[in-house]
Amino acid sequence: MPKLTFKNPQGKGSAGPLVIDAKKGISILEIAEECGARVGHACGGNLACSTCHVYVDEGLDSLPEVSDKENDCMDKAFDVRPESRLGCQCKLADEDVVVEISEESLRAWLDENPDERKKIAAAKAAGPSDQPQRH
Ligand code: FES
Repeated sequence: MPKLTFKNPQGKGSAGPLVIDAKKGISILEIAEECGARVGHACGGNLACSTCHVYVDEGLDSLPEVSDKENDCMDKAFDVRPESRLGCQCKLADEDVVVEISEESLRAWLDENPDERKKIAAAKAAGPSDQPQRH
């Protein structure tokens, strides 16, 4: 059973990595949706956007080959790197995989979940609650 690690499951300020025991043959996007990692998916995993863009830090060679259509979608993506993949196209094999969610994908997830965006804005406005008080 491969493990999938999201290094930044909630974006900036994520509390450590999130490690999931995954099933072989399930995509990174499907796993993200199940565990709550913030991978955007504007087209619903139909290879028509680039909002599920992730960086594969480990296990890249174990993933399926990049198709021509995925390459075309990547042309629309921001900050593309050699380890860039679309999460909806990456079905896990036997190897463990470690990914970082791209800024583009994190932003898309917040666009798709406006209530969460409001909560984050409210928390920022309230300021840090665990700061020591000065006297
Ligand atoms: S969700 Fe649109 S290409 Fe992956």
